[in-house]
Formats: sequence, structure tokens, C-alpha cells
Amino acid sequence: MKKAIIFGITGQDGSHLADLLLSKNYKVVGVVRRSSTDTTSRIRHLLERDNLEIVEGDITDSRSVMNVLIKNDDVDEIYNLAAQSHVGTSFKQAALTWDITGKGCMNILEGIVDAKLMHTRFYQASSSEMFGASYDVDCKTMLKYQNENTKFLPQSPYAISKCAAHYTVRLYREAYGLHASAGILFNHEGPRRGDNFVTKKITNWIVDFTTWLESNEFSSCEQITTSDEYIMSNDRSLSFPKLRLGNLDACRDWGYAGDYVRAMWLMMQQDEPDDYVICTGETHTIKDFLTLAFKFMNIDDWAKYVYIDPAFYRPAEVDFLRGDSSKARSKLGWEPKCNLEQLVSMMINAKINEKLQNHARSF
Ligand code: NAP
Ligand code: GDD
Repeated sequence: MKKAIIFGITGQDGSHLADLLLSKNYKVVGVVRRSSTDTTSRIRHLLERDNLEIVEGDITDSRSVMNVLIKNDDVDEIYNLAAQSHVGTSFKQAALTWDITGKGCMNILEGIVDAKLMHTRFYQASSSEMFGASYDVDCKTMLKYQNENTKFLPQSPYAISKCAAHYTVRLYREAYGLHASAGILFNHEGPRRGDNFVTKKITNWIVDFTTWLESNEFSSCEQITTSDEYIMSNDRSLSFPKLRLGNLDACRDWGYAGDYVRAMWLMMQQDEPDDYVICTGETHTIKDFLTLAFKFMNIDDWAKYVYIDPAFYRPAEVDFLRGDSSKARSKLGWEPKCNLEQLVSMMINAKINEKLQNHARSF
């Protein structure tokens, strides 16, 4: 039986990766940091599994990392998915982001070398944010894209930390001969996405809004009106806050998290370590995502329901991301299975089901 350690198992990707590895009969050791509240909701369905062991540790604390590695020196694969992963937050907590997202990766790599786990394979969660303001242009189609050869021009403390971790992986691979790979993953989402990322914020709001319409028996949008920040009944006795968002013009290459963890595992099965871009190859603005998500609920004019809040603008923005995953497709045989329409409907349906279950539980 293969053994894997997942740093960041309580996160979106960590939970999907744990599903995948357990389905492949791995023994999984999940590292969870101490918290005053329970953070295991995304892996609750796995907690009783015999092959899953949860241990306490924090990647900013090299001794706790070392303890985990020494106790599991028969480990085959180590996945570092732990990060302060919110780009907006990284502008407000830059030093913390550096400690976790940048230095945390080095703590694990140092631990691997110090514990002499040279046989172990290592995966680092690198990010398309590292490209920042940089892209290449296909001279035939004139389309912009980013791949493994595109230079990095990071636009946030998060992206700078990810670049540092990425280069550390490359150095340790070359200097110590570690089987260390980095997946440069473009945005990937799903029902387990954190609530303050833009796709989840939009899909959650739409379900809450339609629930509000239904519970107040509004059968048509003619029964409601809007002010700057609120949606109200025509007599103004009932109100619901508009969806508050920032920059809607940025372009993102959005895929489904469940597809992307398969790519992580495939990288770990290769004879040679390497870096791979993982993406869909399609790009859409936040406005496109809004159009799709509102259409799913039969609402055409999303702009009426959105309040542009300067608080959600970032000091610097990544305007355009569209990946080229030709290398992963040819070398790993990987391709995404879920398109954007399917992703939107999956996220909305999951939120509706969650609400129904909570409602049922309250009776
Ligand atoms: P996420 O949901 O924010 O999960 C982050 C995980 O890291 C959580 O389990 C979190 O634990 C853990 N963590 C944070 N600080 C830690 C620390 N000091 N010690 C140990 N664990 C710590 O992120 P995600 O979306 O799953 O992304 C996984 C990784 O891929 C991250 O490194 C992210 O930066 C990177 N990435 C994500 C995307 C994407 O679109 N999702 C794209 C490219 C790269 P708590 O539950 O305690 O907070
Ligand atoms: N979060 C958020 N909240 N973003 C908003 C909002 C809002 O209210 N309004 C507009 N946006 C815009 C952001 O400015 C950004 O251009 C875009 O929506 C996507 O923002 P996020 O969903 O927060 O994702 P991200 O692209 O910044 O970062 C995600 O993807 C990276 C890979 O490219 C994260 O998962 C990172 O961890 C990951 O590395």
C-alpha cells in the first residue's frame, strides 16, 4: 500500500486529493493545523476511514513538519497544498502569506533532505498567479496564453511567495536530486471552494437571493425594485443586499478542482520530476461568469443585482489568464472533463442541496 502525506488536507484541493488517493487504496496522512474551531468539514465524509490518519502540524513550524516526516519515513508521496491562498488577503497580510505560502514550502523541502527521505516524491501547488502581468502571443492565432516557458511577473504578495516556493522546488530538484514537481495550476473551483473566492461568492449569492424571492412569494421581478445597494419589495418593506463585487473585467481560465487533483497525482507517477501547466485553455471575464450563473436561474440582467464595491478591488490585478496545457496533455495524458457551464451548474446545485439539507435538519 502506498503512503501519502497531504499538507493542506482541509482545503478545497486537499479534500479532493484525499478522495482520489483513498479511492486508489493509499494510506493518507493529513496534516491539520490547530484551530479554535473545527476545520475538517470538507473531509468529514472521510474521517472514519481506516486508511486516513489526521495529525497536527503547521508548515510555518519546521519542527512540527520534521516530526510528521520522521514519524512517516516510509512515505511515498508528499503533497504541499497548504497556503494562505487568497490573493486579496495577501495584500493585507503579506508577511503571514510569505511565511506560509513561501517559506512553508522550504520548511517541507528542508525536512525531506534532513530526514533523508530522498526516495520520496514531492508535489508543490504552484499557481498561474505567478505569471501576473505576463503572457505570450501565438503568432498564428494571435491569442494570448501562458505555458511552462512564459516568464513570471507576479502582481501580489501571494504570487511572489508562490514564485519563491516554485524556484525552491526547482533548486532542490537540481541540487539534491529530489523527485520534486510543481503543478502550475490555473483557477479551479467547485462546491468545496472557499466562500470568499469570486465564483463561490456569486453562486452562493444567487441561491440565497432566489430563496429570498421564493420565501416572500415574489413570482416575477416586477414585484421588486432596486436601490444603490439593495433589492426591495415595491413597498420597500422587505430588502435583500445586492451582490457586492470588485473588478469584473479580469479574465480567468476556470476549471473543476476534481479534475485538477488527478493531474497532481499523475505528476507523482512520472519517472522524472517536472513542472506542468494545468488549465482548460479557455478564458472568461467575471462578467461572463455572472451571465452564465444568473442565466442558470433564469435571470438575464445581472447588472441590476450587483453593487460594485471598491473594497473588493486589489492594489494590483492580474488582468488576463489563459493557459496552454499541451505538455500535461501529451506527457501525462491529462485533460479536464468538466466545462464552465457544468461547473456553474454543479456549484449552484450543490448550494441548493446544502440549503435543502439544512432546512430538513431544522425540522
Ligand atoms: P484552500 O482551500 O485555501 O486550502 C488551503 C489549505 O492550507 C487549508 O487546508 C489550510 O488549512 C491549509 N493551511 C493554511 N495555512 C497553513 C499552515 N500554516 N500550516 C498548515 N496548513 C495550512 O486552497 P485550495 O484552493 O485548496 O488550494 C490548494 C493549493 O493550491 C494552495 O497552495 C493554493 O495556493 C494553490 N492553488 C490553488 C488554485 C485554485 O484555483 N484553487 C490555483 C493554483 C494554486 P485551514 O483549513 O486550517 O485553513
Ligand atoms: N475574491 C474576489 N471577491 N474576487 C473578486 C471579487 C470579489 O468580490 N470581485 C471581483 N473579483 C475578481 C478578482 O479581482 C480577480 O480578478 C478575480 O475576480 C478572481 O478572484 P479570486 O476568485 O479571488 O481568485 P484569484 O484569481 O485571485 O486567485 C485564485 O486563483 C489562483 C490561480 O490563478 C486563488 O485560488 C489562488 O490561490 C490561485 O493561486
